[in-house]
Amino acid sequence: MARILTGITPSGRPHLGNILGAILPAINLSKQSDNDSFFFISDLHSLITIKEAKTRIEYTNAIAAAWLAFGFDTDKNTFYRQSRIPEVCELTWYLNCFTPYPMLANAHSFKDKSDRLADVNAGLFTYPVLMAADIILYDADIVPVGKDQKQHLEITRDIASGFNRQYGDTFVVPEAQIDEKVMTIPGTDGLKMSKSYGNIIDIFLPEKALRKNIMSIVTDSTPLEAPKNPDTCNVFSLYEILADQDQVKVMRENYLGGNYGFGHAKQALFELIKEKFETQRAQFDHLMEHPDEIDARLAEGEIKARAVAKEVLEKVRIKLGYQPS
Ligand code: ADP
Ligand code: TRP
Repeated sequence: MARILTGITPSGRPHLGNILGAILPAINLSKQSDNDSFFFISDLHSLITIKEAKTRIEYTNAIAAAWLAFGFDTDKNTFYRQSRIPEVCELTWYLNCFTPYPMLANAHSFKDKSDRLADVNAGLFTYPVLMAADIILYDADIVPVGKDQKQHLEITRDIASGFNRQYGDTFVVPEAQIDEKVMTIPGTDGLKMSKSYGNIIDIFLPEKALRKNIMSIVTDSTPLEAPKNPDTCNVFSLYEILADQDQVKVMRENYLGGNYGFGHAKQALFELIKEKFETQRAQFDHLMEHPDEIDARLAEGEIKARAVAKEVLEKVRIKLGYQPS
């Protein structure tokens, strides 16, 4: 049985790109009977940039609600908030003392973010060490991540194997699982959908706001009567990703036939999203109105996660001479 583990940073509300590119593939992976999945919300990582508690709690709840609304099975798997397992902070300190400074100073993500962010704090610098602790603390075998996290996994492997060399076998050295095929969902401007580009589609918005969100998709100025090229249109690309084959065929004919405006296509996309995600939208709203239910589901996961964390941390304390005599 392989232990699959991954973290999701609550840095915004979940969008269609996160759902199709990360949440659904991870839920599918967790359904394979021989996998034991640990999925957590990395709310300590988000403190690097989000200082307001209310905002962070709202994003944490929204991310959890999205996973639950899409049917993540929290009985079979372990779903928790990183911050509720304080052992991770203790392990981070130990690992800090085994992490060469240049390894962090040369990390692409640090170099890139420290150039862009106004607040370059020590948390940003030691981010990969907390991430290594997240993984190592739970004996994870496989870590599914996006390409941008590849170097962080290499750092984790270096830290874990370096410790093992010095103190004997202690940590599982994890493998990254990077799915190169995962499709990139375009945003309202046709670029990769990302909260940092302000081009997201938030499928959990109330109906009116959702419609407005979809109506903001950028199209060209081809007049209503003229035939349109579906293959260069953002609305069509999104429709094609979500609709079934017959619906896509009809939409293609509408585009090519003329007298079908982008407003019509957007309305069809809006209705498709509403219909396709009707159950998940209702479940999301319910959970966001009852955050105690989200808390209860996460708290169950936290009991399971903490039991594993305590065992692994105890091994480290013993090796480092921090156990009581
Ligand atoms: P954002 O780009 O909005 O900041 P994150 O970097 O927090 O999103 O991504 C969280 C997860 O969602 C990652 O696994 C990432 O690969 C996936 N993801 C984000 N945007 C997209 C997209 N447009 N298409 C496919 N997957 C995406
Ligand atoms: N850094 C990851 C991201 O931004 C989130 C994360 C934190 C993570 N800890 C992790 C992912 C441990 C995998 C394993 O996407």
